[in-house]
Amino acid sequence: MNPNVKLARAEILTLQPYVYAAWDKRYERLHANENPWRAAGDESELGLNLYPESPATALHSRLAELYGVALDQVLAGRGSDEGIDLLIRSFCRAGQDSIVICPPTFGFYRVAAEIQGAGVIEVPLIRNNSGFALNTEKVLAACNSNANIKIVFLCSPGNPPGNVLAAEDMLKVCRELNGRALVVIDEAYIEFTGRNSFTALLPDYPNLVLLRTLSKAYALAGTRCGTTIADADIINVLARVIPPYAIPTTTVETVLKATALEQRQRIADQIKTLITERNTLSAALQKCSLISHVFPSDANFILVECTDADVVFNATKSVGLVVRDQRKQPQCTQCLRITVGTPEQNRRLLNSIEVAGQTQQVTA
Ligand SMILES: Cc1ncc(COP(=O)(O)O)c(C=O)c1O
Repeated sequence: MNPNVKLARAEILTLQPYVYAAWDKRYERLHANENPWRAAGDESELGLNLYPESPATALHSRLAELYGVALDQVLAGRGSDEGIDLLIRSFCRAGQDSIVICPPTFGFYRVAAEIQGAGVIEVPLIRNNSGFALNTEKVLAACNSNANIKIVFLCSPGNPPGNVLAAEDMLKVCRELNGRALVVIDEAYIEFTGRNSFTALLPDYPNLVLLRTLSKAYALAGTRCGTTIADADIINVLARVIPPYAIPTTTVETVLKATALEQRQRIADQIKTLITERNTLSAALQKCSLISHVFPSDANFILVECTDADVVFNATKSVGLVVRDQRKQPQCTQCLRITVGTPEQNRRLLNSIEVAGQTQQVTA
């Protein structure tokens, strides 16, 4: 048994999980109180009148193949958001346990912790010339001084920073905390980095948990499918907590189609295009008078520091493009996060910022 399982809430480990209506194609289903007829507009293969397969073995097999791990190391959720929620609910006791986050970072870690009544300890990233780096010693010091920290969330590439964290820093944290806390590395944007996921390291780091999503590189944000990847014993804990029949049939069927082998080249080409566009846009933004700093990006977005974020925000809005305000994030005063769009959208965005910069110079 993975020793990190004992970090989970005792009541989850002793819980009698809900028993699903079995999915056995040999029988017609009169055991789940489903409607025998399909609804109007139901174009699904399996029928939306039936509960989906649970656990979602067909989906899990595809995700395991896609991410190069074993079937018992994956759990699909409604976005990786659900993975974050399940981890916190399974491992953090309300009013007692805490998570560590490293801001500027993805906002849902905090929200999910607060919903569960878990504490949130912030160890800010260190801003440097390569973007933002992990403060390894401070993360470890925080965990050494608080035995009730159950999860450390690391986001690489970071959202909103955009750059990857150094592998040796993340692995050091993971190694040192084995048996004391889970280390969750959120790899939502890993496909845009040209680097390998940490999946191959899972056997050596029993407390390592990875989050992957189909929302970004696979263009499936609307279908809501994220994957938690970890040692089978940890996955088993989370599977006790996910609600019955969590993944809709439409999601399963869409994912199976969109990630089929014959689609892989198209997906790879699209990722390549987005990376090229990102690099072109990054270089052009560096020349804009309204942009004082362009952070290096390994993702499908770029964090920029503006001379006046309101001016840039309004300039892009005036041409119908909305970007994300990041001014509330620590060390991100005057920062906006720009998602890389189509070549036409990127040109329009750039043009709007250039024109606003010229107007400002004329009126100054
Ligand atoms: C770092 C990070 N993790 C997780 C998510 C959630 O993704 P999903 O759509 O899989 O829930 C996002 C979404 O933007 C993200 O930026």
